[in-house]
Amino acid sequence: LYSRLIRSSVTLDFLIRIPVKAASRSYEVVIARGLLGRASQALEELFPPGARLFIVTSKPVRKHWGAALRKGLRKLYGDCEIIEMPDGERAKRLARLERVADKLVARKADRQSVIVAFGGGVVGDVGGFLASVFMRGIPVVQVPTTLVAQVDSAIGGKTGVNLVSGKNLLGTFHQPSSVLVDPDVLSTLPEREYRSGIFEAMKYGVIRNPEIFELLEEEREKVLARDGALLEKLIAACVQVKADVVSADERESGERRILNYGHTVGHALEAETGYKELLHGEAVGWGMIAAASLGQATQTSDKTTAQRIRGLVESYGPLPELKVKPKRILKRLTSDKKTVGGVPHFVLAKTIGEVAIVNTVPERAILRAVEELNELAAR
Ligand SMILES: NC(=O)c1ccc[n+]([C@@H]2O[C@H](COP(=O)([O-])OP(=O)(O)OC[C@H]3O[C@@H](n4cnc5c(N)ncnc54)[C@H](O)[C@@H]3O)[C@@H](O)[C@H]2O)c1
Ligand SMILES: [Zn+2]
Repeated sequence: LYSRLIRSSVTLDFLIRIPVKAASRSYEVVIARGLLGRASQALEELFPPGARLFIVTSKPVRKHWGAALRKGLRKLYGDCEIIEMPDGERAKRLARLERVADKLVARKADRQSVIVAFGGGVVGDVGGFLASVFMRGIPVVQVPTTLVAQVDSAIGGKTGVNLVSGKNLLGTFHQPSSVLVDPDVLSTLPEREYRSGIFEAMKYGVIRNPEIFELLEEEREKVLARDGALLEKLIAACVQVKADVVSADERESGERRILNYGHTVGHALEAETGYKELLHGEAVGWGMIAAASLGQATQTSDKTTAQRIRGLVESYGPLPELKVKPKRILKRLTSDKKTVGGVPHFVLAKTIGEVAIVNTVPERAILRAVEELNELAAR
């Protein structure tokens, strides 16, 4: 696995560095245990000593890790100010952006300032959005602290907030200047949030790298125990897939769509349950089980592949209860903003490590797949 990772030769040789080459900006995802404490070192080539960095974060992250990051930044950037924001899906609103922006102005942030988005996907999405519009755009460094954010949301430059009428409907593309991933911060993540991230990791195994899938199959105990060395390896492998896909297709016109594996049904389930019952990753877990059924129904994959996917998702469960009306899910799928002419496109596994985009899934197969989720949940 390590053979495909790039290791730097000079001063930062303890770090794994994975390049992202998006059309609008190239940057690195830096991964290392204890990286928070060496944040100055990781950023020194990007921002001169004395640059003003503002840490935007949430209460739990500040409580557990705020001091560690500030200490790591102090060497080059002095005592960085911390701006706290509430998180959770309900905090992902434009009003929040405005409030944080006012705090930045009050603390005399200017066009040379840098936002450090330090938290889960919500802080990353809001902080990234803010950076993209604050004084017409300032740099953002993503320092993700949930597994979902470390393997997914912090990389790729998608930012956004929710509207009453739907999720992520306002947003920008704003690539970070750097992404700093310290797997040690996951030690304080609530169990449910952690497992939710595992389902996103699984996604990368199915779409591109069977080694990720096998690691999750074979090392379940260590994964659940959050073994540091294993996590570093797992996260690096996932980031590599995301980095490759984003580098090939920054704006999600073609290849980037494969990242939606498990998300087509997943998003519909999240929306149908009002974003209250399922964490995002859990919805993706259910979505992958549905995709396994659809893969079989459309003969995109064989039975063994479908069973392995179902088996792996279930082994990291149990997923929260689910009771949805298949017809309502179908309706959401055909009216989704990403569908073309009312025909939902599904990313389905051909085998572990390779997917196809299928737009010929019969409605009855979709209804059946959702009904199966209800049955599984009731078991
Ligand atoms: N931009 C993208 O490409 C992209 C991709 C996937 C998901 N997302 C977005 O990400 C959001 C979900 O992000 P999330 O799953 O990270 O949830 P989250 O940001 O809501 O964080 C979950 C909770 O964990 C807490 N927390 C974070 N790190 C912690 C730590 N190390 N220790 C203890 N507590 C910690 C947070 O304060 C929060 O209460 C969704 O809004 C989703 O739309 C964006
Ligand atoms: Zn996701």
